[in-house]
Amino acid sequence: MPGSQEHDGANNPLFGKSLLSIRQLSRSDIERILGEAESMKLMLDDGKVEQPLRNRIMATLFFEPSTRTRLSFESSMQRLGGGVIGFADANTTSSVKGESLADTVEVVSNYADIIVIRHPKIGSADEAAMHSRVPVVNAGDGAGQHPTQALYDMFTVKAEKGRLEKLNVALVGDLKNARTIRSFAYALAMFGNNLTFIGPRQLQMPGEVLRELSERYGIGVETSESLDDALDADVVYIPRIQKERFADVEEYKRHASNFYTIDKKFMDRATRDPIIMSPLPRLGEISTEIDGMKNAVYFRQAGYGVPVRMAILKMMLAR
Ligand code: NCD
Repeated sequence: MPGSQEHDGANNPLFGKSLLSIRQLSRSDIERILGEAESMKLMLDDGKVEQPLRNRIMATLFFEPSTRTRLSFESSMQRLGGGVIGFADANTTSSVKGESLADTVEVVSNYADIIVIRHPKIGSADEAAMHSRVPVVNAGDGAGQHPTQALYDMFTVKAEKGRLEKLNVALVGDLKNARTIRSFAYALAMFGNNLTFIGPRQLQMPGEVLRELSERYGIGVETSESLDDALDADVVYIPRIQKERFADVEEYKRHASNFYTIDKKFMDRATRDPIIMSPLPRLGEISTEIDGMKNAVYFRQAGYGVPVRMAILKMMLAR
């Protein structure tokens, strides 16, 4: 029966804990979460959603812009019967008066049972968790991590490709700054996929991340500057260039204008029927001319954010 997969606290990797990085999870933890998300999706598809989080409150503290992440978290909490408080514009909060993140979180943990935070500084979610009396979800800490995105990216791969392992995955673009690529890469590595990092030399993934991925997980890791190296991929993942992480606007413009584009021509040349994924928003890197193709999965991917975040909230808050 959908949703009947009850977790006892001992086997539930999320119960009562903060979710700060994909690296805190094991492969079997990820499988467990995706299983719960599958149950949530079946319930959503049937229009019969249980409400185990009645009387629980989620606070969303968003110090950076967001459309999908905040709205899908809020939708997920409300579908599970819970309530939502929070802000989407930190300029309306006491942080403009100079209040520290630590103090804000200390106070908000009186008002909510779980805190979802997005903040421009790497490590900010860890800092928040240190000062919170309730579990914290990292919804993006600068160029650091975005673990719930990685979980629904994995859900997307399973739903669209039918499996989670032994795939060739091309991760394309702003490898240095995109937290979504970094989190997804670790999750993919845990499942033994081969990764090709394709990006301009100045925006490559730091060497220590590449070394850890290949040494710790024993997977194939390649780097390239040419989009042609994505032609034999099963999955192509292409976020936008992360404008807000560039100190120099001219440098951003240079990269944005020479950026890789996935278009009809690329799809015609690709050899393994690849799915095209993006955490969105897209700018110019995915041509709208492919939107109608079945392999253009990015909008379905955004939709999978709801069952996956429902699973995460339920597992963090209920046994
Ligand atoms: C991403 C983010 O904020 O890291 N957005 C999202 O959560 N879907 C990707 C991006 O902004 O490029």
